[in-house]
Amino acid sequence: MSLEPAGSRSLDPHLRRYAARAAGMTASEVRALFAVASRPEVVSLAGGMPNLTALPLDTLSAQVADLITKDGLVALQYGSAHGLPELRDQICEVMALEQIRAHPDDVVVTVGSQMGLDMVTRIFCDPGDVVIAEGPSYVGALGTFGAYQADVVHVAMDEDGLVPEALREALATAESAGRRVKFLYTIPNFHNPAGVTLAVSRRAEILEICRSHQVLVVEDNPYGLLGFDGQTYPALRSMDPDNVVYLGSFSKTFAAGLRVGWVLAPHAVREKLMLAAESATLCPPTLNQMIVSRYLATHDWKGQIKSFQSAYRDRRDALVSGLEQHMPAGCSWTVPKGGFFVWMTVPEGVDTKAMLPRAVTARVAYVSGTGFYADGFGSRQMRLSFCYPTPERISEGVRRLAAVLAAELDLANTFGPISGRRAGTGPQVPGPDIA
Ligand SMILES: Cc1ncc(COP(=O)(O)O)c(C=O)c1O
Repeated sequence: MSLEPAGSRSLDPHLRRYAARAAGMTASEVRALFAVASRPEVVSLAGGMPNLTALPLDTLSAQVADLITKDGLVALQYGSAHGLPELRDQICEVMALEQIRAHPDDVVVTVGSQMGLDMVTRIFCDPGDVVIAEGPSYVGALGTFGAYQADVVHVAMDEDGLVPEALREALATAESAGRRVKFLYTIPNFHNPAGVTLAVSRRAEILEICRSHQVLVVEDNPYGLLGFDGQTYPALRSMDPDNVVYLGSFSKTFAAGLRVGWVLAPHAVREKLMLAAESATLCPPTLNQMIVSRYLATHDWKGQIKSFQSAYRDRRDALVSGLEQHMPAGCSWTVPKGGFFVWMTVPEGVDTKAMLPRAVTARVAYVSGTGFYADGFGSRQMRLSFCYPTPERISEGVRRLAAVLAAELDLANTFGPISGRRAGTGPQVPGPDIA
C-alpha cells in the first residue's frame, strides 16, 4: 500500500468536486502571516489577539472547578440553540451600557460573533448579492461574505467613520445597476482595521439612508466597551431596533478562547437565525456559557474592562509616540480612541505587501492593507495592532519598522516604485487624524 502525501495528484478529483462557493474560501493574509509572526524574535504588530494578562486566572479556575462539581450534569450537556436564559439576561445588561434596550428573547448566543456574522450572511445572501462594507473592513467578515459568494462594495471612511454621502452614492450606483443590496456591514466603534469611530452626529443619518433604501444594517461591535477614556457611544441598534442586527462578543472584554458571542436581531429575524445556528452547531457550548454567566454574576467585570482599557491605552500610546518619533516623512496614521488598531498610510512608491518579507526579516510584522479590501486596494496601507505586545516591545517594533520603511523609500527614490499595484489612495482609504 502506498500512502501519498496530502497535496499529491491523487487528491485532485476531490478538488474538482468542490461546490462553487468553496472558491470564495481563501486563507486571509492575516492567517498566512500567523506562523511567522508568532516566532518569539518577531515583534508582531500583525495579529489581533487580546491581552489576557490582567485576567484573574486563579479565581477563574476555582470557579470552573466549582461549576463542574456542582452543576456538571447541566454544564456538560447539550443546551438550546437560543442560549442559556440567564446569560441572555446578562447580555442585555451589558448592551445597556451602549443604550440598547433589548428583550432576552431577541438575543441568540453564538460561538463568537464570527458565527453571528456567518449566520446573518447565510440567511440573507444569495450568490451575487451585494454587501456594503466600509473600506477597509474586517478581514473575517470579508472571508464570510466571500464564502457565501456575496459581492462586497466598499464605502469610504474619513476620521469620523463611514461617510454618509459615499454610502448614498454606493447604494444609488448598485441600484441603478440592478444589484440587490442585502445589508450594510459596519463596525462603528474603534474600527478594525481603520481605528476610527463613527461620529455620533452621523449615526442617525446612516440609519436613515439604509432604511430609505430598505437595506438592513449589521452592526458589529466587539470593541465598543474598550474606549480608552471609558467613553461609550449609542449603538446603532439603540436608535433603530427594527432595522439593525447587532453582533456582540465577550472575546475582547473577557476571554476570546471561550468563543461566546451573540446576535441581537429584530424579532422577525430571530427565529431564522436560531434555525441557522441549530444547523451549524446544535447549540453553543453550555459550559462556556456558564463560565461567562458566572463571571458576570460574581466578578467586577466592569472594573476588569477598565483595566483592559488602561492596558490598551498604554499600548496605543507606545505605538503612536513611536510612530511620531521614528516614521519617515510622508507617513500618516489614525489615532484610535479605543480598540486595538492603527491604520497607517505610507508614501507613494512603497508597496506594503511587497515590503512585508523584508519587515519580517527585520523581526517586525504587520498586516498589509490589501488584506482588508475585497478589491485589491490598500497596497499603501498597513494595519498595526497594539493589543498584544508590551509597550516596550511595541516601541522596539516601531523602530524596526521605521528602519525598513526608510530603506524601502531610499530604494523607491533611487529605482522608482517597487511595484505597480493600485495604491489605494482613492476614496476607500480613511483620512488620517494626524500626519
Ligand atoms: C470587527 C470584528 N468582528 C468580529 C470579530 C470576531 O470576534 P469573535 O471572537 O467574537 O468571533 C473580530 C475579531 O477580531 C473583529 O475584529
